[in-house]
Amino acid sequence: MILERDYKELIDLTAKFADNELMPIAGKIDKEEKIPDSIVQKLGQNGFLGSYVPEEYGGAGMDYLSYSLIVSELSRGCASTGVLVSAHTSLATWPILNFGTKEQKKKYLPKMATGESLGCFCLSEPNAGSDAGSLTTFAEDKGDYYLLNGVKNFITNGREANVAVVFAKTEKTPDHKGMSAFIVECASAGFNVQKCEDKLGIKGSSTAQISLENVKVPKENLLGKLGKGFGIGLATLDGGRIGIAAQALGIGEAAFRYARQYVTERVQFGKPISQLQAIQFTLADMSTKLAASRALILEASSLKDLGEPYTKEAAQAKLFASEATMWITTKAIQLLGGNGYTKEYPVERHFRDAKICEIYEGTSEIQRLVIAAIELKEVQ
Ligand code: CAA
Repeated sequence: MILERDYKELIDLTAKFADNELMPIAGKIDKEEKIPDSIVQKLGQNGFLGSYVPEEYGGAGMDYLSYSLIVSELSRGCASTGVLVSAHTSLATWPILNFGTKEQKKKYLPKMATGESLGCFCLSEPNAGSDAGSLTTFAEDKGDYYLLNGVKNFITNGREANVAVVFAKTEKTPDHKGMSAFIVECASAGFNVQKCEDKLGIKGSSTAQISLENVKVPKENLLGKLGKGFGIGLATLDGGRIGIAAQALGIGEAAFRYARQYVTERVQFGKPISQLQAIQFTLADMSTKLAASRALILEASSLKDLGEPYTKEAAQAKLFASEATMWITTKAIQLLGGNGYTKEYPVERHFRDAKICEIYEGTSEIQRLVIAAIELKEVQ
């Protein structure tokens, strides 16, 4: 793709990391449900965890498009690693960078940019998923500090994180109003990981339930303005959704490349099955869906880099790329036949990893609502 040519060096570096460091152990990461600490260290050393953090805060000072390309390549190597980077960077680092005070940025960003400190984003709750505005975690003003109580669900990186961006009500309201955002240090007393989910895919990435029991948060850790937390959460999710689209692209690309190679080697009816038109049609559709996903991700990332509105484009990229990767990974299994269904081949892992892209950071249905709402505003 033409635009990507300007980013060739970065793509080559990340692709090499994915091929040499991640792909050989992606199956082991899936089986053992853990990304080795040495990999997280290397992600930090390569600048992948602070890609768009400005150099003055210890980051690589790149743009959002670079971040999307990094997530896509890393996810091609290992989807669990891709989402660790994505959640850390777009859901925890970005809101601090964008809404934080100078002091907050100086305190938290340098360690987050190198991976010395990992981040997570605590919005969802057992009874507040798609309807994030109805969350009930409460932050009581105690004068010098806030006292947080509540339960957070499905928190990516929750097991490993050192810093959390936590959303809580600061006023008792039935809807999203009166919600605020806080930077919470995970070592704080009362911040406890209750359990890690046993999932279908992205098994190396932790998905934790976290309880907050009388967690004291200093007043200076309020992120952004009091009562403006919902907007901070949704703005953060806009960027996060580009990351998930990039993850979906990476997973789809991995499945496509494996299946493409396989069909040239698999001989049936006296010839490689790649010579059968039915197989070629499938490969062509896979390739086209990947190209379209890539184009939508580049569009949304570039708009974000230009400071233009990108909520709709981010939702479109996530919607399309996640449904495309589900289709592509399903077809990849089909191309491998019985072999594809076994754990001896990686495509069954890609298939399991793909599904979450249609769910987290807003289901496909939520993306459709976001897109339709913006389109309908055009005629009001
Ligand atoms: N950016 C900033 N502000 C926004 C916004 C955006 N993209 N979209 C809407 N807003 C603001 C509106 O301006 C409005 O502000 P005011 O109250 O000041 O007027 C407010 O938010 C409410 O807007 P809507 O009425 O449009 O919002 P809604 O209540 O109808 O909800 C929704 C819209 C699309 C359903 C939204 O709630 C949503 O995206 N839900 C999905 C949440 C989600 O993705 N959750 C997963 C979180 S991931 C996680 O927690 C775990 C993890 O580790 C990955």
